[in-house]
Amino acid sequence: MSITVEPVKPHIGGIVRVSPDHLLDDETIETVQRELETRGVLVFPQIDVSDQLQLAFTDRLGDRVNFTRQVPGSDAETPDVYKITLDRKLNAEPDYVLGTFFWHIDGITIDQPLPKATVLSARTLSASGGATEFANLYAAWDLLPEDEKREYEGLTVIHCVEAAVRPVHGHPSEERRARYKAMAAVMEQPLVWTHEDGRKSLLLGTHADGIVGMPGPHGRALLARLQQWAAQPDLVYTHKWQPGDLVIWNNQGLMHRVVPYTDEGRVMHRTTIAGKERPGRPARDANVERIYQVA
Ligand SMILES: [Fe+2]
Repeated sequence: MSITVEPVKPHIGGIVRVSPDHLLDDETIETVQRELETRGVLVFPQIDVSDQLQLAFTDRLGDRVNFTRQVPGSDAETPDVYKITLDRKLNAEPDYVLGTFFWHIDGITIDQPLPKATVLSARTLSASGGATEFANLYAAWDLLPEDEKREYEGLTVIHCVEAAVRPVHGHPSEERRARYKAMAAVMEQPLVWTHEDGRKSLLLGTHADGIVGMPGPHGRALLARLQQWAAQPDLVYTHKWQPGDLVIWNNQGLMHRVVPYTDEGRVMHRTTIAGKERPGRPARDANVERIYQVA
């Protein structure tokens, strides 16, 4: 047995012990795939991978995807490795990174199968802040009272970048809004996603802008309440990074955010594993305000 997984909390988190020499072994890959479904987020403490090994690990788990190829921070010299940093020399527009201070699911505002999993490795840490929090959206669904489950199933939620960056800018300029609009689609996603394997999870995050057929304030209030529910302490794992840590999480069943930091020296390397399931579709109307009024 070259790999062990130790649970962190009943609903979320696992600490994986494996040598980097065995990271690409069949046993490791099978264990990681299985535990991603049950533990949601897996930590490989101080495993210290190179970009090359991180990409090889990513490729063993599925198809590699780079949904941020067009955004600043994508490095043409290291294809498919996205550098998450506030350092303007590495990332000319850190606004996109500031959005990670708020709960989100990677790639949910893009018209493509929802990315299956995200791999993140710590290269340089910040002096303060910078921990990453993960919330289990499968458990958030499972633990809801039955009457609420009945109320929510069948609801459709609008997700867009504009909503995701609203807390970053408060009042973005027209020019900035146009830029973000061009970057990603306005998507309709089910509030309750029934995965192909029959499991259900909530799809939530700051990018959730409103609910189809529900007045804006009512939809946003419900989404805010559900986000708070899903982020209850028992369902959340907070990872305080050590240099060389690698973390992988099930992006289809978890939302995540980073504890705010200002240190421009912090650098994380991200790779992404493509999903096969597409829970949503582009919005039926570019004017979302009209969507909220339609019953
Ligand atoms: Fe993210």
